[in-house]
Amino acid sequence: MSTLIVNGVRHMVEIDPSTPLLYALRNQLELNGAKFGCGMGQCGACTVLLDDQPVFGCITPVSACEGRHVRTIEGLGNAEHPGKLQASFIKHQAAQCGYCIAGMVMRAQALLEQNSHPSEAQIRAHMEPNLCRCGTHMRIIAAIKEVAQGGEK
Ligand code: FES
Repeated sequence: MSTLIVNGVRHMVEIDPSTPLLYALRNQLELNGAKFGCGMGQCGACTVLLDDQPVFGCITPVSACEGRHVRTIEGLGNAEHPGKLQASFIKHQAAQCGYCIAGMVMRAQALLEQNSHPSEAQIRAHMEPNLCRCGTHMRIIAAIKEVAQGGEK
C-alpha cells in the first residue's frame, strides 16, 4: 500500500511501489491529463509537479512520491473554470493535437511559481525538455509569456 498526495488529496493506493507515478495517476486515480508519450523521460507528455518541481511521471516511481505533494493539470482548473495558464493556452490556440499540453502547462506552472516574470529566453530554456511534435511551440511560448507579463500564475 502506498500513500499518494495528489492535488491536496491523500490516497491510499494498492500498487507496487516501483510502478511509475504516471500509471498510478492514470490507472488508479483516473487523473488522465498527464499522458504517456515515450515512457523514457524524453518527451515531457507525462510532466507533473512533485513538491513544486516538474518531473517525468513515466520514470518517477511511486516510492519516490511518498509523503510528497504531487500536482497534476486537474489541480489547476477545469473546462468550466480554467486556470490562468490553461485559459491563455486556449486563447492562443496553443494546442494542435493536444497530447503534450498537460505536460507543457505543468512545466510552465512550475516556472511561473518560481519566477513570475521570466524573460522569453528563460521560458524557452525552461520549456526545453517538453516536446510538441505538431510544432505549436511558438504559440505555447506566447501563451506562457502572456501570463508572465500579467504577473499572474
Ligand atoms: Fe514521460 Fe515521454 S512519457 S517523458
